[in-house]
Amino acid sequence: MGEELRLPIAADVDVVEARQQGRALAAVAGFSSGEQTVIAAAISEIARNILMYAKKGEIILSLVQNGDRQGVAVVAIDQGPGIPADQLPFLFRPFSRVAGHEYDRETGTGLGLAISRAIVEQHHGRIWAQALPEGGSRFAFELPAAEACAAVA
Ligand SMILES: Nc1ncnc2c1ncn2[C@@H]1O[C@H](COP(=O)(O)OP(=O)(O)OP(=O)(O)O)[C@@H](O)[C@H]1O
Ligand SMILES: [Mg+2]
Repeated sequence: MGEELRLPIAADVDVVEARQQGRALAAVAGFSSGEQTVIAAAISEIARNILMYAKKGEIILSLVQNGDRQGVAVVAIDQGPGIPADQLPFLFRPFSRVAGHEYDRETGTGLGLAISRAIVEQHHGRIWAQALPEGGSRFAFELPAAEACAAVA
């Protein structure tokens, strides 16, 4: 599928690198500067979560084809504590935090994923989370190019 960038996330500088690479890939795909910012912001949130809850993981960036326009796909994978299946539906709600884990004492406001969902959906993309059977978490979002999406709608 052409370009695929695998970026290890284990420190703050990696989060910065991932958001810069995401912005660059979005530019290649033809996204507007505003959309590039949305993509960079959402990458930042899921990468920050990797650091905070799993300590390390990986962000995978790739281009996807949507009709005759391109889109950007972002996947975040870690082998951290994972998310209990019954809490998955609530993750993207404002102020929701998974309770009862050791990392519960980490300070977060529970807004990162809610904001990411809002801005991704505003730009006709989708974002979702999965608990991996082997443990850990997988977050993904995809932003289609605006024209292709309008044709589908
Ligand atoms: N990679 C992950 N592994 C395990 N749990 C996660 C992961 N990412 C998010 N979570 C859980 O989802 C909750 C919501 O994440 P979200 O990013 O929305 O808020 P936050 O990280 O708590 O605070 P904020 O991002 O606003 O600083 C987290 O509190 C955490 O319980
Ligand atoms: Mg967060």
